[in-house]
Amino acid sequence: METKLKSFYKKTVKERKSALKDLNLYDDNFDYKLDDDSFNHLIENYITTYEVPMGVAPDFLIDGKIYHIPMATEEPSVIAGASHAAKIIKRNGGFKVLSLSRLMIGQIIFKDVKKAKDLIDYLETQKDTFKKIAYQAHPQIHKLGGGLIDFRVEDKSQGFVCLYASINTLDAMGANTINTILEAISNYIIVNYPTKILMSILSNLNVNSLVSVRVTIDPRNLKSSSTIHHDIADASTYASLDPYRAATHNKGIMNGVTALMLATGNDTRSIEAAAHSYASITGSYKPLSKWYVEDNLLIGEITIPLALGTVGGSMGILPKVKLSHKILNVSSAKELMFVAASLGLAQNFAALYALTTDGINKGHMRLHARNIALEAGASNENMNDVVEYMLNEKSITLETAKKYINKS
Ligand code: MEV
Repeated sequence: METKLKSFYKKTVKERKSALKDLNLYDDNFDYKLDDDSFNHLIENYITTYEVPMGVAPDFLIDGKIYHIPMATEEPSVIAGASHAAKIIKRNGGFKVLSLSRLMIGQIIFKDVKKAKDLIDYLETQKDTFKKIAYQAHPQIHKLGGGLIDFRVEDKSQGFVCLYASINTLDAMGANTINTILEAISNYIIVNYPTKILMSILSNLNVNSLVSVRVTIDPRNLKSSSTIHHDIADASTYASLDPYRAATHNKGIMNGVTALMLATGNDTRSIEAAAHSYASITGSYKPLSKWYVEDNLLIGEITIPLALGTVGGSMGILPKVKLSHKILNVSSAKELMFVAASLGLAQNFAALYALTTDGINKGHMRLHARNIALEAGASNENMNDVVEYMLNEKSITLETAKKYINKS
């Protein structure tokens, strides 16, 4: 499948924008900085904005459709790694979505409960009432087909009982919707049953918003083709044995996921909290992906909670977020969920491929050198020369960069 973003990394910034425009995936009207007054309304004590570069990892083939993924990240090698992996995976048939669920979880936590069974029995008889209250608290979401779906109650011991509500927030991440529904139900309970409520809040451990994606890669066209699939599978097995490695393995996955979440205006902290709490749901911290060999092919799978949104929050305000959505061209939160999971798996593949072959530094050195050159004051004109000088000298330091700049 050919796309017009071929050799995207070789293009100038202007050419990249123009290639995206040719695909109707770019809008100059979104490529501007919002004014101070708007930012001042967005947060308390606003003083200025904080810039992070945004790029595009092109050509992700996911279930037969091509996506060009906007990513906001300060880490030099992340977009390069994702793009390289996407290219390899595309040649191997692309990403396949295995499953996807999308419901949010809210908690009403009761404390000082003397007779847990009585409270649980009471709550369980109130399903219809709570559904009516949820509807009144947020009619719009229910009219659109979302809202409170169901709940279950658990005795958590030490006088705590928890009601876990299952809520459909449609295409929004829906924090406000969930909290509004929970608080309305809590207020009703307090008036109608003698109990104490400690708090009502959504849960970021979103086991009902899981997405699983698979890739199958023929190692014959990879470096170290006779061993690479086994090495990547071993890297995966090792990560499942050692949380010190699993944390780094998952950090690599989140390099991609978080960059996409930031670009699309999602709450990066909730996505990270979900990923890492899900990684330890068995009681020990595990990798979110697994790689194994079958019929001499390398198979990679990821299962990750992604309670993200495509509407709501500040998404309708921030121009660069609108630009990201234009580039992505997804029509629902579910679609963004499988794009994000695919990106995470690609990023993970890129890291493991590099780590088990050349090591991480080789590929990173040129990008790292560019950062150092920039910091040393290299200009657009002498940037490449400064980088080459540092690489030749095998010394990627500020001193070496400055030595070259001062000499020329
Ligand atoms: C660096 O940002 C991410 C890696 O450490 C991930 C990994 O080790 O799998 C390269």
